[in-house]
Amino acid sequence: MTIITPWEVKGNVDYDKVITEFGVSRIDEKLLARIQKIAGLHYFLRRNIFFAHRDLGFVLDQHEKGNKFFLYTGRAPSGPVHLGHLIPWLFTKWLQDAFDVELWFQFPDEEKFLFKKELTLEDTERFTFDNMLDVIALGFNPKKTHFLIDTKHAHLMYREAIKVAKHITFSTAKAAFGFTNEQNIGAIFYTSMQAVPAFLPSVLQKKNIPCLIPYAIDQDPHFRVSRDVIPKLGFYKPASIQCRFLPGLGGMQSDGKMSSSAGDEATIYTTDDAKTVKHKVSKHAFSGGKDTVEEHRKYGGNPDIDVSYQWLTFFEEDDEKLKQTYHDYKTGKLLSGELKAMLITKINDFLKGHQKRRDEAKGKIEQYLYKEPKKATSLFMEEQ
Ligand code: TRP
Repeated sequence: MTIITPWEVKGNVDYDKVITEFGVSRIDEKLLARIQKIAGLHYFLRRNIFFAHRDLGFVLDQHEKGNKFFLYTGRAPSGPVHLGHLIPWLFTKWLQDAFDVELWFQFPDEEKFLFKKELTLEDTERFTFDNMLDVIALGFNPKKTHFLIDTKHAHLMYREAIKVAKHITFSTAKAAFGFTNEQNIGAIFYTSMQAVPAFLPSVLQKKNIPCLIPYAIDQDPHFRVSRDVIPKLGFYKPASIQCRFLPGLGGMQSDGKMSSSAGDEATIYTTDDAKTVKHKVSKHAFSGGKDTVEEHRKYGGNPDIDVSYQWLTFFEEDDEKLKQTYHDYKTGKLLSGELKAMLITKINDFLKGHQKRRDEAKGKIEQYLYKEPKKATSLFMEEQ
């Protein structure tokens, strides 16, 4: 059985089925051609890794009219960042540059505190600062990127969150998230906080600004609910664009996405050193190769179920090289060990640069945290 909720992804995900069940739209050729004309096509779009959307046409219309949209995405800190987390952020970085737009990045430090019994608020606060380093390392423009931390920006966000909450009944939340009566009421309220950054920039600038939210498809229930509410508050319905999951090392059949719950051995963290990456891929990446070299040469491997090949579709930018790899593996020219070695090199090259930028990010957090313009008025007076 396949399960996709914001808290759990299990089983082999059928993305065609997801499109109909979640009510998102496929990113079709026409839309791709439009994006291509304006911004070019990121390889995540060419390869259908970002595969679905809601109202993407609307933000493109607005963009063409010279009405800039802003981007919104986020990360609920619950542990160290792994490679799977980076997929939507890498794409968000591309969008920021290609469309030259602002990004609001939410760190809901209360979310996993509310949803995971074992996590204290101190834990999630610690992970917030750790996880920010990974986001900064991806190179977002500090002048156009604003971090929101729910417990730190609560004075700005709470006021908007209650407006959202007033429009969501418990039965709606139950239907969207599968809550039972045993759920704590903080968790039930949480989706209102995740809705806020989709219109907070409009509140702050006192004008209606279109919003585009890139996310992995498991976050969809939050936005399905908030898209119904936000127009009632007088703002544009946020548009969104959804990606597939980076499969777990154990294979698409067993883990729908890479998740630290599969254990540290089968998860590649952004801070893993080259030796660790080599060990994890060699030992744990599910192979679509044959049992013996002779058989493999004779019958070829199966790239469609081979995790190393699937991962290369996420990390190898060169289409020609990828195509050649697919062909060589399928015809038995390329062995499993050789394919794994290609992936190991690819990941380690990326991580080398990432870890350097991650280290440098330690001095940059301040530049990214959202700071309100100074107000001379008292807390109780309307702004002048
Ligand atoms: N709920 C997300 C998580 O579990 C964090 C998040 C907050 C988010 N706002 C978002 C993700 C907007 C995508 C888009 O990590």
